[in-house]
Amino acid sequence: MRDPSGPPIHLLVVEDNPGDARLVQLQLADAGPFEVSCRGSLAEARAWLADHSADAVLLDLSLPDSSGLPTIDAMRDIAPDLPIIVFTGLDSEDVGMAAVKRGCQDYLVKGHGDGHLIARSVAYSIERKSIERERQAAADQLKRVLLQTVRTVSLALEMRDPYTAGHQKRVAQLAVAIGEHMGLAQSVVEGLHTGALIHDLGKINVPAEFLSRPGKLTAAAFDVVRSHARVGAEIVAGIEFPWPVADMIRQHHERLNGTGYPDGLTGDQIIIEARILAVADVVEAISSHRPYRPSLGIEAAMREIRDHSGSKYDPDVVAACNEVIRANGSQIFHDDTDLPAVWL
Ligand SMILES: [Fe+2]
Repeated sequence: MRDPSGPPIHLLVVEDNPGDARLVQLQLADAGPFEVSCRGSLAEARAWLADHSADAVLLDLSLPDSSGLPTIDAMRDIAPDLPIIVFTGLDSEDVGMAAVKRGCQDYLVKGHGDGHLIARSVAYSIERKSIERERQAAADQLKRVLLQTVRTVSLALEMRDPYTAGHQKRVAQLAVAIGEHMGLAQSVVEGLHTGALIHDLGKINVPAEFLSRPGKLTAAAFDVVRSHARVGAEIVAGIEFPWPVADMIRQHHERLNGTGYPDGLTGDQIIIEARILAVADVVEAISSHRPYRPSLGIEAAMREIRDHSGSKYDPDVVAACNEVIRANGSQIFHDDTDLPAVWL
């Protein structure tokens, strides 16, 4: 039970029946230090919360401007961080479970129990919400650390191979834009971004002089360069990424018609992330300056992928890339170091 000498809990009661609201106030008066404010609709609750803060909300599910479970969504829109305790006349286990799944912390039935029950539910709900917040903050931090580590590895590789400095970052920018344009789930786009940032990781195993002038390589040296896809995948194989990063790396030089390497995969055998990486990689490589040749231009890059759409490259990915480049031009390769939206 609450410490009566502790600070009061500010409870917002959203209830359109003045009798029910008054009853809650009376019941809580005996159950500990509470400051209770009552509002009769979601609109009134929204207006009140614009100028006041609360520790929790006791929410009736049948209000003049909302009824049923969508009321919980509406309340979460108004105050995403506020613990919600549903307070309703409907005594139903199913509705209670559905309410909790929808993000409320507890479900109370009017007329069941006294003020102490409400007080306990409110206190537990506040505690649960605070644990939820801490867990989310820890997960967000872990995600940021993972991305920072991946970026550091990406930069380390490019410091050794200045001829392609920035290549992986720019491929990541274009790949993310293509993935978002194709409507891929945010978690898939996050994985795509991560895989793109280290897609050439295996080049760490390729002598630097092979990387600087690929046009003059012997067949044997070219084989070594091509091994980077397999080697990169092997390097990350032991990392438990929440995405298929090793497959993205291994498959980024595969081609739809089986002419790619290292496995000569075809069509859907190549994961969508790798099909996107293949296009982003080629477009970035052709349109960027290299010490041994000037930029061939974004138009040449687009011609390459359009000419081989459906043979080497996934036509849906080519179409999305076309749209993205048409809308942004080469501005898609921006130099800022901010995290992309998907990571925020
Ligand atoms: Fe590559």
